[in-house]
Amino acid sequence: MHDAVGLGWPDGGTVPFAVAAGLGWPPSRPERDNPPTEQVSKGALLSGEEELPGSERVRQALSAAVSRGTSDAIGLSPEIGTVAQNAEVVVSEVPSNRSDTPIARAAAAAIGVRGSSRRDAWPRPQNCRVITIANQKGGVGKTTTTVNLAASLSQHGSRILVIDLDPQGNASTALDVAHHVGIESVYNVLVENRPLQQIVVPVPEMQGLSCAPATIDLAGAEVELVPMVARESRLARAMEQLDLSNYDYVLIDCPPSLGLLTVNALVAGAEVLIPIQCEYYALEGLEQLLRTVDLVRGHLNNRLRISTILLTMYDGRTRLATQVADDVRSHFGEVVLQTIIPRSVRVSEAPSYGQSVITYDPASSGAIAYSEAAREIAYRSVRA
Ligand SMILES: Nc1ncnc2c1ncn2[C@@H]1O[C@H](COP(=O)(O)OP(=O)(O)O)[C@@H](O)[C@H]1O
Ligand SMILES: [Mg+2]
Repeated sequence: MHDAVGLGWPDGGTVPFAVAAGLGWPPSRPERDNPPTEQVSKGALLSGEEELPGSERVRQALSAAVSRGTSDAIGLSPEIGTVAQNAEVVVSEVPSNRSDTPIARAAAAAIGVRGSSRRDAWPRPQNCRVITIANQKGGVGKTTTTVNLAASLSQHGSRILVIDLDPQGNASTALDVAHHVGIESVYNVLVENRPLQQIVVPVPEMQGLSCAPATIDLAGAEVELVPMVARESRLARAMEQLDLSNYDYVLIDCPPSLGLLTVNALVAGAEVLIPIQCEYYALEGLEQLLRTVDLVRGHLNNRLRISTILLTMYDGRTRLATQVADDVRSHFGEVVLQTIIPRSVRVSEAPSYGQSVITYDPASSGAIAYSEAAREIAYRSVRA
């Protein structure tokens, strides 16, 4: 391996976690049986405190990321308005793994049941909010976030379109939408000008939720788009033809790269949501992502803003996770949602049943956290 120093790896170059894009997404779906009792993901713990990078390093990584004049691009979009006065943040505490103890689970179940039976309607934005979920790192929770926010928002009365822009089609899998070769997909829209409306399908058993699926053909689109006219704006054009008044939110799940597919998503929407994994090297690459957002904002889409940052896969047992969470918050301020998504086995199991964790196990810590994150986003839709 090349010299790790300076690339953001903790000194010593040991990689405490190994995460790969698409890990854990099933090729096919097993029969659903009763979910076993939730267990805390054992994950990989940092092997020793001595390998923790200093807080100074975390801060430097973040400062580098935000120092390139990107600050204008960070903040709530003017069109979203301010956070509603009554936007009470329910989970102000970081969800900890303690919530996976039997007693806490019972308590959580009570909340989950109450929440899901009431299904109070959350505020809906006046105009459709198009939110691109982007981070060129794989395995940070983009797809999981897209699918679970979509499920939560739809359960609370919003109409959602998920656009799957990742050739791996993980979001389509999790939403139980067919995306095998031969299915009309986002590929046909981007490369062949097929109207987006023609490929949108309802998500089974999820009222108000639709999906534009991705097939593996999309992998070729990165190359096929290169010589095309307005290659960065193909998705935006397709969305202009779509009657967005039919939706409250369009969530675009990006592939793990900053190629033409992600750029198309950034041109098509006004908001970027960046999921950040609570690990040190999650901060690597953030600078590049912010610079890309800035470039798109400067040249192709001046409405674009990083409106939301969501901390994902939090493992309360590591000091590093807490430190990363604190520092991301101090750098990015109000765009960071109060809710932090904990690591939870349930979250990673859900897609193999073609479900979000919201429906798979509504009482699990992951479902509750994603639901709270969605609630925060919904309350940001309220105009002052
Ligand atoms: N909060 C979580 N707890 C446990 N596993 C998670 C969590 N969020 C995501 N995962 C798992 O991590 C892997 C990567 O997540 P994914 O959403 O596919 O990332 P990305 O879309 O950024 O590549 C998947 O296997 C997913 O199931
Ligand atoms: Mg993904």
